[in-house]
Amino acid sequence: MMNDLFDSVDGEGWSEPVGDGVVVLRRFASSASPALMAAVADIAAQAPFRHMVTPGGHSMSAAMTCAGSLGWVTDARGYRYQSCDPQTGRAWPAMPPKFFALAQQAAERAGFPGFEPDACLVNRYRPGAKMGLHQDKDERDFSQPIVSVSLGLPIVFQFGGLRRSDRPQRVILEHGDVVVWGGVARLNYHGVLTLKAGHHPLTDEFRYNLTFRKAG
Ligand code: SIN
Ligand code: FE2
Repeated sequence: MMNDLFDSVDGEGWSEPVGDGVVVLRRFASSASPALMAAVADIAAQAPFRHMVTPGGHSMSAAMTCAGSLGWVTDARGYRYQSCDPQTGRAWPAMPPKFFALAQQAAERAGFPGFEPDACLVNRYRPGAKMGLHQDKDERDFSQPIVSVSLGLPIVFQFGGLRRSDRPQRVILEHGDVVVWGGVARLNYHGVLTLKAGHHPLTDEFRYNLTFRKAG
């Protein structure tokens, strides 16, 4: 299912398997990245980045917005997907075609053809922000993978097992890297460690992450 290490590819980059069902497609999104960031700016102009609050009452350190027919939200009522942005009352911005195409191509490269994401969660990390270990399990169909695109500053990604207590592997994710997980790894715990300060020519002091899901 997985490509070999340093597999030569028709697009950019190379594949690094992390474990069963999870692969890092190094630099897969590099050449698309300026266009992706322009699309992020368009999305944020319609649905501003905000710090959502967990059901436990904690403000998330990553700022978030969404694109697609469904967007992921958290508030005092819990985690869920919904078609409207709770902050504006409007539908989330449409999924940019270049987002959809990149996510579908990355999924296919990782062995998951026919991926049709309907939700893109956009995370923006500034130095000090992080994302604790969690499972992506608010989606309806776990046969569909998760495609996660890293832009800007590097960060340490943690990828664990099905139990929170399973010791995670650590992988540095850099600009243009895409992680795809699915199949036996679909519900594995994952997160990112605290972002360190730096400067990136495309994203200044930030790291952005685009997470694509088939949610509905
Ligand atoms: C997430 O799992 O929601 C985000 C992971 C990342 O920022 O790379
Ligand atoms: Fe996640």
